[in-house]
Amino acid sequence: MPTSNAHPQLRIDIVSIFPDYLAPLELSLVGKAREAGQIDVRIHDLRDCTQDRHRTVDDTPYGGGPGMVMLPEPWGDALDSILGSDPSRTPVLVVPTPSGERFTQAHAAKWALGDWLIFACGRYEGIDSRVMEHFGERIHVAEVSLGDYVLAGGEVAALAVTEAVVRLLPGVLGNSESVVDDSFAPGRMADLVEGPVYTKPPLWRGLEVPEVLLSGHHGRIEAWRLEQAHERTRTRRPDLHGETPSGDMAD
Ligand code: ADE
Repeated sequence: MPTSNAHPQLRIDIVSIFPDYLAPLELSLVGKAREAGQIDVRIHDLRDCTQDRHRTVDDTPYGGGPGMVMLPEPWGDALDSILGSDPSRTPVLVVPTPSGERFTQAHAAKWALGDWLIFACGRYEGIDSRVMEHFGERIHVAEVSLGDYVLAGGEVAALAVTEAVVRLLPGVLGNSESVVDDSFAPGRMADLVEGPVYTKPPLWRGLEVPEVLLSGHHGRIEAWRLEQAHERTRTRRPDLHGETPSGDMAD
């Protein structure tokens, strides 16, 4: 399989108790990048690293409280085996968790320059903390959150982070220019969300495409787009705009 010349192939390992949850990685942009050999995705079932008849992966939390915590032993064995499979690469262990630092475009950009991401998808109340402590002494560990809400497990976050990283790899998007105007793209879009976009027809259900976009005047179009990005960011993301959110959640 051919790989993009300057860039090393990105290897992505994902460990989960629901490997089927990761099936969308065969589709669309990530699926095509796999087929083209730009990325090497390997999905692992954590239960294959259990030692008991019931393939147990969790137990009750020390100190009491609700829910279950994932056992350190299966995680230790799974991650040892993955790390041991290629000593030549520099992995980042990504642990999705609502208690992590917020995952941003800056993480995606940094990880797209690396050569190996390993995702540890927790379920229940999370993974025994000693797993992150132990592997943090061996490799870089990033506990990241998609946002201020709680998912049932790390799988959806692993899909989201994988897609955010893979679309930044050289040669994955058809037009290499198209990431430049993304919301949060480094440069002038760093703290901005993208403004509205339009396509044909010019009039739809009584609604017109803004005239400037039909003008063919590139300078005016660029200026308009930037202005719209600022306006959207101000109204929808005052946190990015350096203004205090109103705190009014009524709408
Ligand atoms: N796992 C559960 N909730 C999550 C979140 N908000 N972000 C990342 N991983 C999670």
